Amino acid sequence: MIIDPREQDYRNVYKLMIGVIVPRPIAFVSTVNLDGIRNLAPFSFFTGVSANPPTILFCPMVRLSDGARKDTIRNIEATGEFVVNVVSEDIAERMNICSAEFPPEVDEFEKSGLTPVPSDLVKPPRVKESRVNMESKLLEIVEVSALPLGGSIVIGEILRFHIDDSLFDDFKIDPDKLRAIGRMGGPSYTRTADRFDLVRPKTGELKH
Ligand SMILES: Cc1cc2nc3c(=O)[nH]c(=O)nc-3n(C[C@H](O)[C@H](O)[C@H](O)COP(=O)(O)O)c2cc1C
Repeated sequence: MIIDPREQDYRNVYKLMIGVIVPRPIAFVSTVNLDGIRNLAPFSFFTGVSANPPTILFCPMVRLSDGARKDTIRNIEATGEFVVNVVSEDIAERMNICSAEFPPEVDEFEKSGLTPVPSDLVKPPRVKESRVNMESKLLEIVEVSALPLGGSIVIGEILRFHIDDSLFDDFKIDPDKLRAIGRMGGPSYTRTADRFDLVRPKTGELKH
């Protein structure tokens, strides 16, 4: 099968991408708008960029329903701040509630029952139930496409990590305690309990 995306409906191209780019980690992003209204939403087009400085990116798309930009990116443009919270199995359903298209004046912390706790360095609160939170400041937004299901890259620097003590041992994170989930295609998710190790060949300077 050969598929040229330019000949396809973009909704099918999206389906293809979320089925092929798997598993995806989930950035559960908290923001506030200029009136201080809280927003919380999951984004699985998400990854790390650099450790020095610690930099992450995630990608809010243009909404399919009305071609509008999502609250998260609008809030980040306005304030320059966000928090990425890690999603473990125990908060999967509450995270999913936050993916509904609530209007900007709705606080997804209240809708989901998740608990906002003040951050140290940025205005958006952290999610108390997440075992890891990363307070971040905006470095750059790159708009790739303003079309429906187009999107932007939000690049941010992590200013502070909050990590549950029980997970942390000499900068190593215990995945069995973190129990992060990943997004697959459609409504599917994956657990991180089933793993295997591979030792890298010793040609590089950094082993990880
Ligand atoms: C697990 C998961 C991952 C998601 N990943 C993305 C993503 O990478 N980009 C995106 O634009 N929307 C993604 N969504 C949909 C958004 O969460 C949804 O559009 C949400 O309403 C955006 O909220 P906001 O308007 O408050 O920013 C995802 C939803 C779920 C459940």
